Amino acid sequence: MTSRVDKKVILSGIQPTNKLTLGNYLGAIKNWVRIQNDYDAYFMAVDQHAMTARQDPIELRKNTLFSIACYIAAGIDPERCVLFVQSHVHQHSQLAWTLNCFGYMGELSRMIQYKEKSAKSGTNIPVGIFTYPLLMAADILLYDTHLVPVGEDQTQHVELTRDIAERMNGLYGPDTFVIPKAHIPKVAARVMDLLTPTSKMSKSAVNENGSIFISDTPADIEKKFKRATTDSETTIRFDSETKPGVSNLLSIQSAITSESIAEVIARYDGKQYGHLKLETAQIVIKELSPIQKRAQELVDERTELNRILRIGAEKAQAHAERTIKRIHERIGYVVLD
Ligand code: TYM
Repeated sequence: MTSRVDKKVILSGIQPTNKLTLGNYLGAIKNWVRIQNDYDAYFMAVDQHAMTARQDPIELRKNTLFSIACYIAAGIDPERCVLFVQSHVHQHSQLAWTLNCFGYMGELSRMIQYKEKSAKSGTNIPVGIFTYPLLMAADILLYDTHLVPVGEDQTQHVELTRDIAERMNGLYGPDTFVIPKAHIPKVAARVMDLLTPTSKMSKSAVNENGSIFISDTPADIEKKFKRATTDSETTIRFDSETKPGVSNLLSIQSAITSESIAEVIARYDGKQYGHLKLETAQIVIKELSPIQKRAQELVDERTELNRILRIGAEKAQAHAERTIKRIHERIGYVVLD
């Protein structure tokens, strides 16, 4: 079970639905960039997960390429990391079926995202929304992943992956699967909606003014931050219970500038919420503008992106196939040489 360079493996992915948010960027991508050199890293666009909601085919393709372009533009090095699209590696669906036979209805029905999404889907809930965490488990287990850098909302899915891997290790031998762990960023693990700061910032928020998208214009970003919900006090301090809006702005700044929350607060001595909102907007614009520009260039060129994705798919397939062989041998399928 040795990896490409004998480093520990990290793997993560984002659904290429709608546009990536500041939550995806701070909760996931920025953390990936920070730790990519210390690990054997796999990052993907999980287009098969996106299929659990109806997608416009043209938009899905466009968003998938733009997501990968954003990873690179944000600093993911395609020469060191394996960058790929989930549907390019058929082994994900293959392992997902096996895991479907080991995951339990009870544990899947406890998944918070399943409960939330199925509540929104009305009566015709796609089966994929229910089995979705098992495809995610397959993503993780296929690459002998040690760490899964994600935002806080994904910890329950990583826990489920651990439970299933341990269950199968109990049945087929302790080294059947590597047991993965979630790797959560210290700040901005849960970026909140700007208008409703008690809810997570999301791609599918009812009111788009509460979410910052990587592709937003500077004017949009400024407008959205100016309208951000704060509270009736006037002091700038961190308390996510009683001051969720202000605390969210402080966390966003801290995640981008790498200052501690205390250092950010110290800069606002004697200043008002208006300053905090405007400066947070400026910091976000400065961070996102070059990423937007480079991502768009990569998508426009396309040849380079195709080359990166072809190499990524080949590397990912090679690792995934080794795992599939190992698992198929263990569980009793006939494996041809
Ligand atoms: P997804 O596409 O909902 O989110 C992608 C990543 O962004 C993080 N994130 C946030 N972090 C902080 N604040 C927020 N408001 C916020 N919103 C989203 C998520 O925690 C996640 O890290 N099932 C996964 C995708 C997936 C995956 C995987 C992840 C599929 N296979 C394997 C890791 C490993 C999902 O739907 O994430």
